[in-house]
Amino acid sequence: MLDFDKFTKYSKPGPRYTSYPTALEFSDAYGYDEYIKKLETQDSSRPISLYFHLPFCRNACYFCGCNVVFTSKEDKMLRYMDYLKRELAILSKHVDMNREVLQMHFGGGTPTFFTAPQLKEIIDEIKSYFKNFADDAEISCEIDPRHIDEAQMKVMSEAGFNRVSFGIQDFNEKVQIAVHRVQPYDITKAAMDLARKYNMISVNTDLIYGLPYQSLETFKETLSLALTLSPDRFAVFNYAHVPWMKKTMRKIDETTLPTPAEKLEIMQYTIDFLTSNGYRMVGMDHFAKPDDELFKAIEKGELHRNFQGYTTKGGADLIGVGLTSIGEGIDSYNQNFKAMHEYEEAIDAGKLPFERGVVLNDDDLIRQYVIMELMSNFKLDIKRFDEKFDVVFKDYFADAIEALKPFVEDDLLTMDENHIECSETGTLLIRNIAMPFDAYMKKHSANQKTFSKTV
Ligand SMILES: C[S@@+](CC[C@H](N)C(=O)[O-])C[C@H]1O[C@@H](n2cnc3c(N)ncnc32)[C@H](O)[C@@H]1O
Ligand code: SF4
Repeated sequence: MLDFDKFTKYSKPGPRYTSYPTALEFSDAYGYDEYIKKLETQDSSRPISLYFHLPFCRNACYFCGCNVVFTSKEDKMLRYMDYLKRELAILSKHVDMNREVLQMHFGGGTPTFFTAPQLKEIIDEIKSYFKNFADDAEISCEIDPRHIDEAQMKVMSEAGFNRVSFGIQDFNEKVQIAVHRVQPYDITKAAMDLARKYNMISVNTDLIYGLPYQSLETFKETLSLALTLSPDRFAVFNYAHVPWMKKTMRKIDETTLPTPAEKLEIMQYTIDFLTSNGYRMVGMDHFAKPDDELFKAIEKGELHRNFQGYTTKGGADLIGVGLTSIGEGIDSYNQNFKAMHEYEEAIDAGKLPFERGVVLNDDDLIRQYVIMELMSNFKLDIKRFDEKFDVVFKDYFADAIEALKPFVEDDLLTMDENHIECSETGTLLIRNIAMPFDAYMKKHSANQKTFSKTV
C-alpha cells in the first residue's frame, strides 16, 4: 500500500493544462483585427475541428465548473439559436468553408435541453455552411442522462453523431443529494441503452472524485455500477473546487470533502480497478478499452490534449462557436465573450464575438510542446525535443530539471539524458510535474485563488 500521506505535500493550486498558456493568460492584447487576420490566413489544407457551446441547464449541480446559463425559458433558448446562426454566417465570411471538418463537438451546459427539432435545426444550419465533413468525422455530444429522449438521439444519429458522453459523476445517493444532482442508476442505464440502440461508436461516461461524502468505499460501489454499463471510455475527473469563481460551489460544505490522501487513494484504486477490468489509462483522467483508437495515436505519438480532453485529431484548427467558446490555431488561442449581452452585441454589430486570446511566442510553443507531451503521454523524448526545436533541453530547462528532483526522490519520475518518464504513481501528480515547465506559474503562485488544487 502506498503512503499517500507522503504525497499530500504536492496538493497545491495548479492548471489542468487543457491549453498552454492557460486561459489566465488570454487578454485583449490580442485584438479583434489580428484575430480576424489569423483566421483568414489559416492554412486551408489543415482540417477543422468545430466546437459548439450550448450553455443551458435548468438546475445547478453544485460542483459544476462549466460555463452554464441556468434557465427554463424557451424564448431565451430560441434567441440563442438565432445568434448562433448569425455567428455562423459571419464566420463563413472569414473561414474557407470548403475545409475538411474532422471533428464536431456539442458541449455545454446540456446541449440536450434543446428539443429534437431544435437540435436538427442547429445541425442543419451548421451543415449548410460546413459542407465538407470527413467520412470518418468524429461527431459528439455531451448529454445529461436525465435529459435525453429517443427523438433527440435519433436526430443526432441521423445527422452522423457517432459519439456521446454522459455525465454520471457518482451513483451514491448521499453524494448525489449533497451536490444537488439526483440521478438514479436506471436513468443512466436507459440513456446508455438509447446510445447503443442508435449505434454510437463510442460512449463515454464522466465520473468525479473529490465530491462531498465520497470515500474509497462509496467510490468502489460507484465504479462497480458504472462498469455494468460497459462504456467505451471513462473520464474520471478530479473535482476542481473553485468557489471564489463559481458561486454554486459555495453551497458545498468543505468539511465533507475527502482529504488529499483519500483522493489519491481513490484515484489509485480507480486506476487499478479499471485496468483490471479491461480498460487502459489515457492521459491524466481518461480510460478506454484497449482497441480504442486513442492507443494507436499514443503509439504514433499523435495523442493531443485539448479543451474537450484527449483526441487523435491533433493537426486540426479548432473553431469555437457560441458563448465562451475557445478556438485554437497553430500559434494562438481565442475565446468568445462570456457575458450573453456582450456576445449578442458583437454579433448585432456584424462581428465575431471574439473577446480575447493569446498569440504564442517561441518560448510558449516550446513549453506547450513539453507540457502537452507530459499531460498526454506521461513522458518526454528529449532527443526528439532537441531536434524539433533546435535548443538543448538540459540548458533551456535547467530550472525545471532542478525543481523536479524531489519527484525523482519520491519515485514519481525518472530522468536521464534522453527521457523524462512518470512512474505509475507519478501519473497521479502529472499536473505538478508539468508545472515547472510553465513560465507563468511564478506570476500566479502567490495567489491561491487561481487554479483548483492538483490533489
Ligand atoms: C458539460 S458537463 C456534461 C454534460 C451534462 N451537462 C451533464 O452534467 O451530464 C461536463 C462534465 O464536466 C465535469 N465537471 C463539471 N464540473 C466539474 C468540476 N468542478 N470538477 C471536475 N469536473 C467537473 C462533469 O463530469 C461533467 O459531466
Ligand atoms: S454538470 Fe452538467 S447538468 Fe450539472 S450544472 Fe453543469 S453542465 Fe449542467
